[in-house]
Amino acid sequence: MTRQVEVLPDVAGIVNRALALILERAEAAIAHRGTFSIALSGGSTPKPLYEAIAQQPLPWDKIQVFWGDERYVPPDHPDSNEGMARRAWLDHVPIPAANIHPMDTTPADPTVAADLYEQHLQQVFQLAPGDFPSLDVVLLGIGDDGHTASLFPHTKALTVGDRLITVGNKDGQPRITFTAPLINHARCVIFLVAGANKRPALTQIFAPEGDADTYPARLIQPAGELWWLLDQSASIPVP
Ligand code: 6PG
Repeated sequence: MTRQVEVLPDVAGIVNRALALILERAEAAIAHRGTFSIALSGGSTPKPLYEAIAQQPLPWDKIQVFWGDERYVPPDHPDSNEGMARRAWLDHVPIPAANIHPMDTTPADPTVAADLYEQHLQQVFQLAPGDFPSLDVVLLGIGDDGHTASLFPHTKALTVGDRLITVGNKDGQPRITFTAPLINHARCVIFLVAGANKRPALTQIFAPEGDADTYPARLIQPAGELWWLLDQSASIPVP
């Protein structure tokens, strides 16, 4: 793993830098494998990035879009990560519907939804049981509490090592989420972090010694590239 930490002046700086990283890796992936796979994060920070990607003349038929986590709400709900990404990006580009892979939150039981998305990934990436796909790019954020995707502190989801997808738990509210091992199989992980409120968690996440059960973003140690794009207000001295 190569960890790169970059401090950009503001969110616009983060967006431009992330866009450049994504476009480079999309071009390389399509040249080598004919396709580019990206997993999206939710929350507020990535929205302007999705709006910027929508402006790019990309070969949309070669781009596969997944979600790293989802709130357990329908796509038209204001909290839906799928809904946000469609409104900011996917509804504005000619990407084939089959290339968009949202997490289905209709099953009454979230564990069924997690199983269904895992089966879908196994089918899309033609995986053997127990295998993990390597997505080209996984986008992540962090919460003030050090969570990432929907891997929240002191939850069972943090301990899942043999699955691709599991059920997250935010204050009793279910979420569907990539597991840490799936994220760590990615060729490139990009964290987008803005705001001074993220500094205390970042300090714990970057500390040489620390507790991943309390700061789950510490679990993210991908085999490939790891980029931390911070805005000035979130930046801390990196040990
Ligand atoms: C989600 C996210 C989550 C998010 C962080 C940061 O569905 O909420 O995937 O992990 O990245 O909570 O959110 P902000 O960008 O809004 O600070």
